[in-house]
Amino acid sequence: MRQDEPFDAIILGAGAAGLMAARTAGLLGQRVLVLDHADRPGKKILISGGGRCNFTNIHTAPDRFLSANPHFVKSALGRYQPQDFIDLVERYGISWHEKTLGQLFCDGSSRQIVDMLLDECAQGQVDIRCDHRIVAVDRPDGRFRVSTQHGAFIAPALVIATGGPSIPKMGATGFGYDLARQFNLKVIEPRPALVPLTLSGDDMMFRGLSGIAVDSVAAHGKTRFREASLFTHKGLSGPAILQISSYWRPGEAITINLLPDSDAAAALVEAKRQRPKLHIHSLLGEWLPDRLVDLLRAPLGLSGELANIADKALIAAGNRLNGWRFTPNGSEGFAKAEVTVGGVDTSGLSSRTMEARSIPGLYFIGEAVDVTGWLGGYNFQWAWASGNATGEAIAQQQ
Ligand code: FDA
Repeated sequence: MRQDEPFDAIILGAGAAGLMAARTAGLLGQRVLVLDHADRPGKKILISGGGRCNFTNIHTAPDRFLSANPHFVKSALGRYQPQDFIDLVERYGISWHEKTLGQLFCDGSSRQIVDMLLDECAQGQVDIRCDHRIVAVDRPDGRFRVSTQHGAFIAPALVIATGGPSIPKMGATGFGYDLARQFNLKVIEPRPALVPLTLSGDDMMFRGLSGIAVDSVAAHGKTRFREASLFTHKGLSGPAILQISSYWRPGEAITINLLPDSDAAAALVEAKRQRPKLHIHSLLGEWLPDRLVDLLRAPLGLSGELANIADKALIAAGNRLNGWRFTPNGSEGFAKAEVTVGGVDTSGLSSRTMEARSIPGLYFIGEAVDVTGWLGGYNFQWAWASGNATGEAIAQQQ
């Protein structure tokens, strides 16, 4: 194909959303060019889900996504559902399993998902070119011109699928935001999400528990997640913390319920009645890991036999165990964040097509948009759904 050969659409970014949009438009007969600065497509898919790609979540619903406009996701998610992607995966004979909480993973490897998308793109005669650095984008005559170090490409439709800035060492950039601003679209401040949180001050003592995980409920305001919390040498991680990190903002506190299955205050007072001779630390050792019990000694300020501890002190300790308050001093940042909250403001986009309202032919999809899913396959489902919506829209424009 010659460089000046006309394309119906150029897609910037050969990640999850870009490949899905390309495949959908290509299979609907559009001539699609995909450009990426990386050396190969789908790099984040390859490392996702610990190498097994958690490719969707069967509990996908709009309330599992963060966005300044919580209604924005409804149209695209409604028209491309987890079952649609499962059907595609099964057509390719890729076996999968549900790990937990509706999270679907490949039995084999993430590579199968990338290969499947590339195969679909090949069937749609999509032209994918990696190692293309985007130098400039402009719109000289109503069509979009994308200049790269290998020359310029022109098309009436341009799709921005360059993701967010999480994990920059993998080639992630804020390119999508710069481009949105170039076309006078608003960007909601991007922040790292699904990211470990760091502790300082009095909370720093918990770093000594590095490697210990507890079943927990992590909470921020009314938002709560029942999963494991993990203590790390920098602070807090584990699925419950990653989930809550998307809601947390600097300066705010979170709580961790260390005994999510019990009313700890009532249980402590009851234990005092039933087993007055029992040492408080022996009792806590029945409920929590020993190293955590050792560490909690000082802040809880309890010692000795239960009979010698006032009910009031037991109730206060129980309440703390059911909602230990941490004030993280930060997060591990974009270097460790699985995704980004914030991004291109949805108020400037059509929720049906992802097209910019003010710039016909310009689309934003995937993580670049101010839509962030929970941990557990939701972010890929958003990439597939938004990519599919745009792929169909491009075909309908012709
Ligand atoms: P994505 O990041 O996939 O693709 C963007 C593409 O644009 C890349 O190919 C990049 O090279 C290219 N690009 C960027 N800047 C460019 C520029 N300036 N010029 C040209 N090209 C450019 N989600 C999930 O649902 N299940 C999971 O199991 C996981 N696991 C997971 C693990 C890890 C370690 C991370 C970091 C993330 C996940 N995620 C996840 C999140 C998931 O990977 C993410 O939500 C999607 O990949 C987003 O898809 P996009 O296509 O929007 O961006």
